[in-house]
Amino acid sequence: MDFQETIRAQRPCSQYLPRPVPDEKLRAMLSAARLAPSQGNLQPWRFVVVMDDDRKRMIAQACPRGRPVAEAPVVVVAFSVEEDVPVTVGGYISAYPLDVAVAVHQLRLAATAEGLATSWIVDFHEDKVRAVLGVPEGIHPIAILPIGYAADGATGNNGSGANGDGRKSPNEIIAYNEYPW
Ligand SMILES: Cc1cc2nc3c(=O)[nH]c(=O)nc-3n(C[C@H](O)[C@H](O)[C@H](O)COP(=O)(O)O)c2cc1C
Repeated sequence: MDFQETIRAQRPCSQYLPRPVPDEKLRAMLSAARLAPSQGNLQPWRFVVVMDDDRKRMIAQACPRGRPVAEAPVVVVAFSVEEDVPVTVGGYISAYPLDVAVAVHQLRLAATAEGLATSWIVDFHEDKVRAVLGVPEGIHPIAILPIGYAADGATGNNGSGANGDGRKSPNEIIAYNEYPW
């Protein structure tokens, strides 16, 4: 799969098969996340890989729509280490979730390239996730990522709209030389 194909193939998955994820594929995903760029190369991320059924179930209970978390054979919880990122973006917003989002996206693209499905869940109760995994102060869960093989028809398809890909047209989001909107 070339790069553009991988980008287009990535779709959120809502239902996973119980089929296990091979170790080498999991390693490839985690390697892609580890190699992500970050502000000042501070790498303010941590990843907890959860394969234990009881823990997955408890994390699923911390999510209003947690069924895929309980179901997927692997769940990665991505954290940000707040104190590692003292800067703000333009002085108005904390930068710490950005680096983690970049790493999460690299992990998800690697999963797609490995023939696996993922979804990105930010709708969770932070305190419950922290309690299940024993997370100390200053560390924030940023994303919960179920990973596995998609059940038939379980990958999202936002293929509506003029472009057929569920995205705004280039004219709506890209401009040159000045901000026209
Ligand atoms: C930062 C971020 C957070 C997201 N959080 C959730 C979520 O909590 N639950 C969910 O079902 N999908 C979540 N998604 C997936 C988006 O809803 C999905 O990517 C979007 O609808 C576009 O669909 P597509 O990727 O199939 O084109 C998230 C995506 C991103 C980038």
